[in-house]
Amino acid sequence: MAKPKNAVTVPEIATRKGGTPIVCLTAYTTPMARLLDPHVDILLVGDSLGMVVYGMETTLPVTLDMMINHGAAVVRGADHACVTVDLPFGSYQESPDAAYRACVRVLAETGCDAVKLEGGAEMAETVRFLTERSVPVMGHVGLKPQSVRAMGGYTVQGRGEEAAQRVIDDAKAVAEAGAFSIVVEGTMEPVARALTAAIDVPTIGIGASVACDGQVLVTEDILGLFTDFTPRFVKRYADIGSDIEAAARAYAEDVRSRAFPSDEHCFGSKRGPKLISG
Ligand code: KIV
Repeated sequence: MAKPKNAVTVPEIATRKGGTPIVCLTAYTTPMARLLDPHVDILLVGDSLGMVVYGMETTLPVTLDMMINHGAAVVRGADHACVTVDLPFGSYQESPDAAYRACVRVLAETGCDAVKLEGGAEMAETVRFLTERSVPVMGHVGLKPQSVRAMGGYTVQGRGEEAAQRVIDDAKAVAEAGAFSIVVEGTMEPVARALTAAIDVPTIGIGASVACDGQVLVTEDILGLFTDFTPRFVKRYADIGSDIEAAARAYAEDVRSRAFPSDEHCFGSKRGPKLISG
């Protein structure tokens, strides 16, 4: 289905450098996409879904098929935001060719607008290969969750002069290779500020301060729906997890006491749902 005229496009995101901050949230399903779509510029189908939806310990086991299924679901629920789908671990690091094949599947099978991949200078050749072939790429530097084993945990990146320069150089390399925007995760404000000033594509921060050109968070984190671990940089805007528990508790009580279903929920009763006649 064609997107409406007011839909947010990749070129539009690229022009948002230094302007009104870019609003991005994750979405993994059609109903969530429908709720978020009018309010955000970008819906990110993050591979965080492995942990948030599937209970995995890291994002490493997430497969391309999983990302494609969830990407297509989000596209079905979005007619405004720019839908960007994460390339999962192992689907793009091997070579630019492998990355291109993964991107073709993601773009063709989901109908999304762009892909995101993690990596700095070491991925620049791949980013260039993809963008020169009309694959819109969002970069991701700083804390890269797919490198959790190599980092020895989810550790803040850019501490110390040398490490800070490495994060900045990574962003520069990915920007110069053609990325239309770059997620900057888990770094200190001065690094995010210097990096944002050093490149002409927008930065989208997560745990990277207000110095970025936009912000992204995991939706379940801001809703209080994923409470296994809440990073310090998350601001919680709702406590839906508690609402769900309360609803489940009330339903269980109603079923056990036979308060549900009542007349209004029974076919054939005066107050109940109408029978479908043929
Ligand atoms: O996987 C993800 O959801 C992400 C964002 C949190 C940036 O990469």
